Amino acid sequence: MGLVLGIETACDDTAAAVVDDELRVRSSVVWGQKQTHQAFNGVVPELAARRHAEVIMHVVKQALDEANVRIGDLSAIAVNNQHGLVRSVVVGVSTARGLAVSQGLPLIPVHHVEAHVFSAIMSNPDLFKEHICLAVAGGHNALIHVRGMGDYEVIGRTLDDSAGEAFDKVGSYLGLPFPAGAQVDALARGGNPKAYDFPRPKLKDGTLNFSFSGLKTPVRMVAEKLQSQEGAADVAASFERAVVDVLIAKTLVAAEQRGVSQVSVVGGVACNTLLRQELPIVAAKSGVKVTLTPPRLCTDNAAMVAGLAQQKLREGAQSKLDLDATPNAPLGRRAANYRPNQAS
Ligand code: KG4
Ligand code: ZN
Repeated sequence: MGLVLGIETACDDTAAAVVDDELRVRSSVVWGQKQTHQAFNGVVPELAARRHAEVIMHVVKQALDEANVRIGDLSAIAVNNQHGLVRSVVVGVSTARGLAVSQGLPLIPVHHVEAHVFSAIMSNPDLFKEHICLAVAGGHNALIHVRGMGDYEVIGRTLDDSAGEAFDKVGSYLGLPFPAGAQVDALARGGNPKAYDFPRPKLKDGTLNFSFSGLKTPVRMVAEKLQSQEGAADVAASFERAVVDVLIAKTLVAAEQRGVSQVSVVGGVACNTLLRQELPIVAAKSGVKVTLTPPRLCTDNAAMVAGLAQQKLREGAQSKLDLDATPNAPLGRRAANYRPNQAS
């Protein structure tokens, strides 16, 4: 049985995972750096890279131990070398390269966003067919027309902030520690989503692009005047409602425009409770099926990297021991269609 070790260091999560050739996740270890960056209310690239360098070998060892395999049992190593903060990506790439060379193993390069796309396919093989993928996180926010493996067209992207960044900023206005998406989600569960009518940016502009920066100021102005925790829950719920309305509407317009009847949602914001509850219901009304990626595969992880590498190996991918870190690389073959959002 072929086992692949995946390594992922795009941003502030140091991750390693072992996935077998039937795409079963044998282990998936994610070492987050929340405490390092909380004081700065955002990821500090220099600090992120240093933390990766400190812990990466421990994370790799833990992934191997939890999978109950030795490094010699592996058939390949995979690494994200194509998206993220350059210094962070370099740590993952140099670790993977060192392990591959010293063990005489093939090294498979992977694009972080393609790995997110593949995280949905891992949970629903029906998605090997054509579909629309909403990839929505902190470092990326795009609608991707997936025609097949390696054939991606980015048909919408954020023009400013990603939805994840908007959640994180609103969380900071509400006094929540970075990254705040999951806590804004939890707070929103006890709030009234109709309490404030926040803007739905670009909802009806006829494009598939997003813009979340304009939502910050009205939310901040309300948050500054808050008197109670109950008030904070109403702000969180109304903000979440506005973001989710836009994400759902644009995703379904994309499916309609492209004549596609399947959509997937991936990335950290795909953990959001309201999005997960509502997208399948609204989509069903237009005959569109939704794959909700399991939360452990939504936020940054290395299982999606190792899984995608398994698929690439099936398709005859060649080892590339001299690979470089090339963050903001194009996604798939349609390079001309790809421009990373500014949050990347
Ligand atoms: O995929 P991810 O781990 O990293 C990137 O590739 O960016 O996504 C992290 C983002 C953060 O902005 C975080 O606040 C957001 O995903 N997030 C959520 C939820 N859980 C994580 N946003 C909304 N609701 C959630 N439940
Ligand atoms: Zn990501």
